[in-house]
Amino acid sequence: MNDRFVIILAAGKGTRMKSKLYKVLHPVCGKPMVDYVLTQVEALSPEKVVTIVGEGHEQIESVLGDRSDYAVQEEQLGTGHAVLQAEDLLKEKTGTTLVISGDTPLFTKETLDKLFSFHEEQKAQVTVLTAKTSEPFGYGRVIRGADGQVDKIVEQKDTNEQEALVEEINTGVYCFDNQTLFQRLHEVGNNNAQSEYYLPDVVEIIKKVGGKIAAYQMDNFDESMGVNDRVALSRTQAMMQRRINEQHMRNGVTIVDPTNTYIDIDVEIGSDTVVEPNTKIFGKTTIGSNCLIGSGSRIEDSQIGNNIKIISSTIEESKMADGSNCGPNSHLRPATELGEDVHIGNFCELKNVQVGPRTKIGHLTYVGDATLGSDINVGCGVVFVNFDGVQKFHSEIGSHTFIGSNSNIVSPVKVSDHAFIAAGSTITDDVPYHAMAIARQRQTNKEDFWQRLSVSDSEEWNK
Ligand code: UD1
Ligand code: MG
Repeated sequence: MNDRFVIILAAGKGTRMKSKLYKVLHPVCGKPMVDYVLTQVEALSPEKVVTIVGEGHEQIESVLGDRSDYAVQEEQLGTGHAVLQAEDLLKEKTGTTLVISGDTPLFTKETLDKLFSFHEEQKAQVTVLTAKTSEPFGYGRVIRGADGQVDKIVEQKDTNEQEALVEEINTGVYCFDNQTLFQRLHEVGNNNAQSEYYLPDVVEIIKKVGGKIAAYQMDNFDESMGVNDRVALSRTQAMMQRRINEQHMRNGVTIVDPTNTYIDIDVEIGSDTVVEPNTKIFGKTTIGSNCLIGSGSRIEDSQIGNNIKIISSTIEESKMADGSNCGPNSHLRPATELGEDVHIGNFCELKNVQVGPRTKIGHLTYVGDATLGSDINVGCGVVFVNFDGVQKFHSEIGSHTFIGSNSNIVSPVKVSDHAFIAAGSTITDDVPYHAMAIARQRQTNKEDFWQRLSVSDSEEWNK
């Protein structure tokens, strides 16, 4: 096997995206497009990967890091000119160089591997990866001669009427004999509709000097989808989403309505978990087995254990241990950790809180900056008053405590184990072990109040 090299083209301005964000950094299912491309080519174990970057290249370099070498294309003069920027890094090498665009995230390593093998078998100087589509608009067309061999590639803007009808397109992926590539690239001109140096023109040049050119037509056009604008971005996203969801279903996850379920590429889900429609599971989230992720939930960068139920709730940068549950309509904000079998019910918000096993926070409660022990019952409408407008304060609630409804815990306080807080209390001091704190005014009843009201005689009141 020849040595393999890869060039990823990623310097284009992406004008058609109309975005401040570098085109190839637009995310698809939670990962920048160019990262997908690099991940797939890495699986082919190339000797070296060179990514061609342009203005604002620091952003790409910070995403891909030292997984790639970089060459900077100062001016975006076309894909041929872009490849030329890798000359210093690669021209001495012997072997095969795969060129691929950073805006085609759906390619799989299997396809790229087949292309490499085909190219090597054919002993060609260049092999173009092509695909057929009934909607070729925007792509370079593969023009074949009467003998069926590829003659040249014509860009959309340079096609004549007949060429525009051709349904075989250039996917923008090629295998080149490395030395031929850098020798012939210098011969590419820019006399075309866009005044750019087109990489595909190398194909015709190699043919003219008697080199062998080959084409490998892949069966699945969808995989070659190039993202030049937001319409293609949404189509690509839908295709990637389908791929991700199908992979989870094959692994034993029930996804009730895959077209309405949004799961990022790096999410892991255990078997027998059921994911209901209209859920979003993003970032580096892991979900265990036998969970129910109910409709309307959004889970981001969180670790969810086994046997967990989440119903229309938002979970961010949090952890839920086995058997716990949350919702409907609750919000776990960053740095919240629920122990085993914890129950978070309706309309609760927790932020930077550790909750011990079996503790229940059932209704309409805010807990911020606190450590709660195990087996606690937090009543309805409890508020942890953790912020004085300038600083945040932390409270500690012992195990087996009972916090009555509508209490305020004014942080910082420490409530010891087995303590009680009477409903409606505003707790500003520590509560000792086994004690009950009542911090509210006693009730007074005004006797015969009714008679003192003049309205008491009115017919309206006596009905
Ligand atoms: C390119 C091909 C077209 C093919 C299509 C497949 C050319 C001239 N055309 O068209 O035949 O059908 O891909 O998706 O190659 N880039 C640079 N520097 C530049 C220009 C572009 O690095 O000066 C990079 C872009 O960041 C992008 C890639 O090259 O990742 C392709 O450029 P793009 O403008 O998207 O080309 P297409 O019009 O899609
Ligand atoms: Mg493109």
